[in-house]
Parts: sequence; structure tokens; C-alpha cells
Amino acid sequence: MRRRPQASEAEASTEKAEKKSENSEGSKSEARAGGKRGSVSGWPLLQSVLVVWPYVEQQRGYKVRVFGCALLVTVSEFCKLYITLAYKALLDAVSQVSSEDVNGLLLPVLSTLLWYLGMKTAEQTASCFLNYLLVPLLEEVGLSVGVHVLRHAHALPPSYLQGKSTGELSSLVSTSRKSVKDFLYKLVYFVLGTSIQGTLTLLALLQHGWRFVAMVFVTCASYMFISSNMTVSLTENRVQMTSQERQYDGDITDAFLNLHTTRVFGAESYQLARLSRTQEALQACIYRHFRGITILALLQMAILNLGTLCVAVSALLQMQQGKMTAGDFALMMGFMLELRAPLSSFERDYRYQRISQTAIEELNQFLQRSPVADSGVEVVFQEGQLQYDAVSLSYGEGLAVMDISFRLPGGSFTGLVGSTGAGKSSVLRALFGFPEVKSGRILIDGQDVSRCSQSSLWSLTGYVPQSCALYRDTIRANITLAAASAGSSPDELEERMHSVCRIADIHDFVETLPEGYDTQLADQGSSISGGQRQRIAIARALFRQPRILVFDEPFSALGAETSQSILLQVREHLPQMTFLLVTHKLLHVTGCDTLLVFDGGRLVAKGSHDALLSSSDVYASMWNAQPTR
Ligand SMILES: Nc1ncnc2c1ncn2[C@@H]1O[C@H](COP(=O)(O)OP(=O)(O)O)[C@@H](O)[C@H]1O
Ligand SMILES: [Mg+2]
Repeated sequence: MRRRPQASEAEASTEKAEKKSENSEGSKSEARAGGKRGSVSGWPLLQSVLVVWPYVEQQRGYKVRVFGCALLVTVSEFCKLYITLAYKALLDAVSQVSSEDVNGLLLPVLSTLLWYLGMKTAEQTASCFLNYLLVPLLEEVGLSVGVHVLRHAHALPPSYLQGKSTGELSSLVSTSRKSVKDFLYKLVYFVLGTSIQGTLTLLALLQHGWRFVAMVFVTCASYMFISSNMTVSLTENRVQMTSQERQYDGDITDAFLNLHTTRVFGAESYQLARLSRTQEALQACIYRHFRGITILALLQMAILNLGTLCVAVSALLQMQQGKMTAGDFALMMGFMLELRAPLSSFERDYRYQRISQTAIEELNQFLQRSPVADSGVEVVFQEGQLQYDAVSLSYGEGLAVMDISFRLPGGSFTGLVGSTGAGKSSVLRALFGFPEVKSGRILIDGQDVSRCSQSSLWSLTGYVPQSCALYRDTIRANITLAAASAGSSPDELEERMHSVCRIADIHDFVETLPEGYDTQLADQGSSISGGQRQRIAIARALFRQPRILVFDEPFSALGAETSQSILLQVREHLPQMTFLLVTHKLLHVTGCDTLLVFDGGRLVAKGSHDALLSSSDVYASMWNAQPTR
């Protein structure tokens, strides 16, 4: 019987996924695998091997171990064949021992027994070593897939990453990791092991005539044909079942979330009717699924038993004619028993191999996306003059921002104001490559940023985005991200961190924490308040010692006094810096050198606060609508 590594994570996860029909990853992959018939063999299999191979090839040790595993599988399959043959020889030897000549025949029995035990020991030893080599290898290869996907994601164009949800990308990593492990595991056991076993069995059967070969071949072929065909429709049905189950769960969650509304509006019967509709559809899928599984199991059993019966009858007839011994008969039965294990796991192996291959195809598509080459010349910083020259921006279809022109001298303080959706954030983000500049030019000290390397541009700028996500790491790590490349001593960096945190008015708060700057933040920084997150994000931007500082509504969660004091401190400490600030609180920008007023994707006015009050109706009405004035 085919023995598998017991500690295999890949196998364990496959088993788990199988039991857990609602496992979302598995189900999603199944959904994708559902429409692809017969992809387990041939070209798609080779394509998947080509995708996975670079991960194996990256270290010489991995390659040696994979070849070692293939060798051990081959040895183990040969041993299994010889175990069956030795068992036959043992039976023949024992059947010849008669009461008169026990001593004379004991030696052949003993030597056959030793042969049998020797083969068994060799097979078990090969399996143990296989387990030892393969399981850690699968884990290591799986882990390197995650790192590779992240590295590739870092180099992809911002336009691609903007269109992807975080969930989609992290699910790609987890699915690919698991699939690469499963794929390699199944490749060694299912594809290689079963192929060797099948070939050896057929060769051994050939010794007893082509009839046996034909019977076993027909049994296996019809078993696999029925299983693979029914698996496709079972998978499709399971995809439907999963989607109905999600609908059911979604309805329940929605119902509980809106419990109060339901009672207030007396909508209980509406809610119950909605749920029972989903329930009926789900039940129909469940019955169809289990009916399919039962029919498949009955057909598989019938094929196997019929095949075994045919082989047994033929062997008995040959025994009757003296062409076969009792050992030969046992050998035939042994082969049929040996076949049961791989055949009965065929349907599952086939399904999971398809799932892994589909996920690997998806990984391949992701890796095929061309990264953005960080080419271009280094920006040479002089005064920090920023110029937009007839710039139009697009997120794909249509223009989000049209024909913007302005010129800001180095060291100036500029406010960007306007209603929501007017285009302020887009104008700032265009500096960082997204949205795309459709026409016009953005210049820093006269240098067109589209011709400059992004990394040199980013090293000059500090950016506090509208929604500042922090890393699940310490406060220190969140602030000093670029410290390793800054070339300063640890003490200088520590001093700089304290200094920027004082400017951002967060130092005192951090000092009150038991672990200070080593306090670990939760996902997205959710363990601290929105205002504290914003201040850490401001400190992070200042820590880079930027020449151009871009703040996109950084004070939305802060009180007027705190915001005003941070602004004053920033300007006082970094007077040479070109500073752009988007805000809805106009009090923050009354002291700006220039105000840019946006409306409907256009720059409708520019000038100082006083000048705009009299010259721009848009600005004047915004100013009059300010609640805190
Ligand atoms: N990631 C995006 N994808 C597509 N369109 C976007 C995206 N971000 C903003 N937009 C669109 O661009 C326009 C300007 O938005 P934005 O620059 O965010 O405005 P503001 O910052 O002034 O509120 C809006 O019409 C908005 O819908
Ligand atoms: Mg905005």
C-alpha cells in the first residue's frame, strides 16, 4: 500500500481542506479549477512544474533534495513490487513443506522470509528518509514563495496595486504558498509514485499473460475515467454549494446586524422569508452533492470488485490447468489489493492536483506582470522649486484632474483647498507616480519627474497620506523605516526620532507607555487612537528629513490647537522645506504663501488668503462656511 509521510503539512492541509468543504481558499480555488477539465496531465502540469522549479532551483541543496526524493520514491516502489513477489515466493515455499521433509525445505522458506523482511525494511527506510527530506523542503519552498510574491509586489506599478485589495494580495500569497507545497508533494507521490507503481505492476503482470494486463488496465482506466468525469461535476456543484452557504451566512450576519431595525420596522417575516429562500437553495445543493458522492462511491466499488473478480477467476482457471501456483494466485490478489489504495485516493489526489495547478497558474500570471524599472536620472535637488505645467491626471478611464498649472518656489508653504473629490489628493499623489500624468509635466527644480528615478524622488519627499496605515510593528520601527540606509549612528537616529516626535507632538505620549518607543502596535496601528496614528505618520515623514513635505489632511483626527501647534513647529524647524498641505480647516492655511483652490478637478484660483477672499467666489464661500472661525 502507498505510504505517505505522516508529518506532511501539505497532506495535512489537503486533508483539512477536504474535510472542510467550506474552506474558503480551497473553495475559491475549486471555483477556478471547476471549469478546467483534465488539466492534471500534459501541458498544464509541465507549465506548473516550470513555475515551481525556480523556487526549487534557487538553492543547490533544494535541487539535490528533490532528486533525492525522486530516487527514494523509485526505490520504495521497486521495494513494494519485490515485497509482493517475495510474499508469493514465501507462499510457494511454505506450500511445498511436507511433514516428511521439514528440515530439507526449511532453508528455502527461511531465505525467502529474509528476502521478504529485507525488502520491507528497505521500503520502510526509504519512506522514512523520504519523509525527512521532503517535508522540510516543502515548507522552505512554500515560505520562499511568500517572500518572492512580496518582492514582486514591491516592484509593480502603483496603478496595479491600487486596483487590488489587500485581501486579494494576501490571499494570493497564502494560496500560492499552500499550492506550491501541495503541488510538489503530489508531484512526488501522486504523479511520480503512481506512474512507477503502475508501470511496474503492468510489467509484472505481463509475465502471466496479456489477459491479466488487459483486465487490470481496463479496471484502472474505467475507474479513473468515471472518477475524473464525475469529479468535474461534483466540483462545480460544490462551488455552487459554497456560494449558497456564503449567501446564507451573509443573510444571517445582515439579519443580526440589523436586528434593531427589523424590530422597529416589524420586518421579521421579510427577514425570515429571505433566509428560508437561501436555505432551500442550499439544501438542494447539499442533496445533489451527497447524491453525487454516493453514486461515485458505488460505481468505484463496483468497478474495483468486478475487476478483482475477473482477475481471481482467470487465476483460478490457470491454477486448474497447472499454469499457476497458489503463490501466483496470491500475487494476483496482492496486485489488486495494492491498486485499491492509489485508486481510491485518485479522485482526491486528482482534485487537489487540479486546485494546486490552478492556483499556480494564477501565481504565474501575477509574476508575469512587468515590474516598473526604477530607471531615470537622480533628481538633483537645488531649492525645492515645484512646478506643474498643464498637468492632466487619469486613474484609467477619463481625466480626474485637468490642465493644472502652478509654480511654487523652494521653501514655500502652500495650501491646497477645495471640496471633496475636487482633485487635491490626486495632484499630490501624481508626484509619486499614481495617478498617471496623461499630459503636461511635473518639474522639481526644473527636472521632469517622469525622467527621474522614483527612488531618488522618494528620498527627497516626506508624505503623510490621507489615511495613514501603520505597520504591525513597534512605534520605533514605524518611524525609522529608512534608518538602515540613512548612514547615521544609532544614537543620532534615536535623537532624530525624539526630535521629530516632539515636533509631531507625540513624544510625551510615547514616553508614558510602559515600553515607550518599543511598544508594539496592532494591525494598521489600531491599538492607538486616530490622532496618535496621524502624529506618528507625521513623525515618520519628518524623520526622512525631506526637502519637499506633502501633508494630505493630516489633522482630520486632531483638535484645532494641536494641529496649529504641530504646523508652527514643522515650519519653525524646517524653514527651507517646500511644504504642501491639503486641509479642510482653512484656519490652518490662512498664513500660507500661496493657496491653490480646486473645484471639479480643476485649479480655479490661486493666491494669498486675503487676495482670494475678494477674487474667488469658491474660496470666499468655503471660508464663510467654516464652522470654527
Ligand atoms: N484610486 C482612485 N481610482 C479612481 N478614481 C479616483 C481614485 N482616487 C480618486 N479618484 C477620483 O479622482 C477625483 C479626485 O479625487 P481626489 O483627488 O481624491 O479628491 P480630493 O482629495 O480633493 O477629495 C475624484 O473624482 C475621485 O473619484
Ligand atoms: Mg483627498
